[in-house]
Amino acid sequence: NEIRIFSPATVANVSCGFDVLGFCLDGIGDEMVVRISKNKGVKISKIEGYDLPIEAHLNVAGVSAQALIDDAKPDVGFEIEIYKKIKPGSGIGSSSASAAGSVVAINELLGRPYNKTQLTYFAMMGEAMASKSYHADNLAPGIFGGFTLVKSVEPLEILELPTPHNLYAVIIHPQIEIKTSEARALLPQKVNLKDATVQWANVGSLVHALHTNDYGLLSRSLNDIIVEPHRSKLIPFFDEIKQQTVKNGALGTGISGSGPSIFSLCEGLESATNIEKTMRDIYKTTGITFETYVSKIN
Ligand code: HSE
Repeated sequence: NEIRIFSPATVANVSCGFDVLGFCLDGIGDEMVVRISKNKGVKISKIEGYDLPIEAHLNVAGVSAQALIDDAKPDVGFEIEIYKKIKPGSGIGSSSASAAGSVVAINELLGRPYNKTQLTYFAMMGEAMASKSYHADNLAPGIFGGFTLVKSVEPLEILELPTPHNLYAVIIHPQIEIKTSEARALLPQKVNLKDATVQWANVGSLVHALHTNDYGLLSRSLNDIIVEPHRSKLIPFFDEIKQQTVKNGALGTGISGSGPSIFSLCEGLESATNIEKTMRDIYKTTGITFETYVSKIN
């Protein structure tokens, strides 16, 4: 009657794939306990870690749980405890982890009536409250694992992509908050056709690189000429981090989701550890508090 789950952090966009590409981080994430209650509906009974709304209808985990409940109409209700480890506004899918975790847990407690795409759909209702838009590029990798591509949101279609066997992500999280809704408001409504051509060629070649374990092609695909130029100004020392990490052997570096976290992809643990050091060395001199993570992508 009770389940404890781990809901992982994720990196959305992966440079060129705004709103469509994402991957799952290993070992970084929130914990949640969900239990069946005789009171119908959903109640958030506890939140530890960060100050977030406890009212279910104002909490992404509550809203996504309610979307599932409205569809399943179970005879019972659910009580959720959230042990938040991912800082809200960090750019590694904090709201998405809460939204995904609650529906995955409730689905387990109900005997798995829904598949992963359906769960992603319910979670999207919660995520939309936080980011003010319907996108699933953090939710899908959190629920499916590995790399995913959201082929379409309406109807929701998610593709699971393969991960090259020795691929690592390095994340630096400067402790400033960027709200996804605000980072989205900065973006242009229209893009230039020439830029779009470059961008979709990169998305296609990145997907091909994942399928063929082609690290060189992966590296050449990790570019974002549409979104990054608008958002990178919000992130202190982004250009320095990007330049130095790529110089020191990262396959590519970009903004994680809507920032402020920055991610690099690396071939092998040794390179990832070296890139983590590069990032730390740059940020150490800035006076800004930060955390770094190294994660294998599975
Ligand atoms: N694709 C989203 C964005 C991810 O970049 O705004 C953050 O939720």
